[in-house]
Amino acid sequence: MTEIDQIIRERRSIRAFTSQPVDNALLKEILTTASYAPSGTNTQAWKVYVVTGEMKDKISNAVIEVIENTRKNPELGEQYQETFRYYPTEWVSPYIDRRRQNGWALYGLLGIEKGDKDKMHAQHLRNYRFFDAPVALFFTLNKVLGDGAKLDTAMFMQNLMLSAKSHGLDTCAQAAWNKYHSIVLPLLGAENEILVSAMALGYADTTNIVNTLKPPRAGLDEFCVWKS
Ligand SMILES: Cc1cc2nc3c(=O)[nH]c(=O)nc-3n(C[C@H](O)[C@H](O)[C@H](O)COP(=O)(O)O)c2cc1C
Repeated sequence: MTEIDQIIRERRSIRAFTSQPVDNALLKEILTTASYAPSGTNTQAWKVYVVTGEMKDKISNAVIEVIENTRKNPELGEQYQETFRYYPTEWVSPYIDRRRQNGWALYGLLGIEKGDKDKMHAQHLRNYRFFDAPVALFFTLNKVLGDGAKLDTAMFMQNLMLSAKSHGLDTCAQAAWNKYHSIVLPLLGAENEILVSAMALGYADTTNIVNTLKPPRAGLDEFCVWKS
């Protein structure tokens, strides 16, 4: 296995970070490395907002307030819809099985039992604190761009996650934020853009059990078709 193979296999989504700040020069290096991602006709469509400090807290507070209000009054939630459909509206196997398995593995680790809505809600809310990571990233796209720009952004994100890992940092991609684009984008001054995903970035809290989650992968026989 090469070094890069190892980094790819060792990267995992981290859901508890320490408060250790990330050096700005290092952040710039990682973002520059990420920009070597391929993109259709080299359009380099990605755009990333690097958010820390007070602005990060302001965005978190604004979204958490809406989520808490929506919990009390579900009708309020109707106005918060993703700009693009990440997940299917109707789930089928094997995707639903993998999704469930992932959710229960996470809750199992955290000792959250089926039906314990308060604990599930509290864990879900951790997304909106970026799992305490010191750096929040928001990936957006100019509205004029086509669907392919999301592929380009995904490649940029993966490069970023792998480069971060190679520097001892960890990440968690977060589509959870997409539903709240109408709150996040104006705070970033990005009203005319589409929110593709957010990401938490920082140093993993290795003492937190949540970070021991190791989601399995399907074997080649499940997704690979050979023809000759
Ligand atoms: C685009 C994207 C969005 C994601 N959004 C979230 C999220 O909102 N919250 C979360 O906890 N994990 C999120 N994840 C992490 C996935 O749950 C994780 O990648 C998957 O379970 C596989 O685990 P691994 O990344 O540790 O290999 C996201 C992953 C991707 C690629």
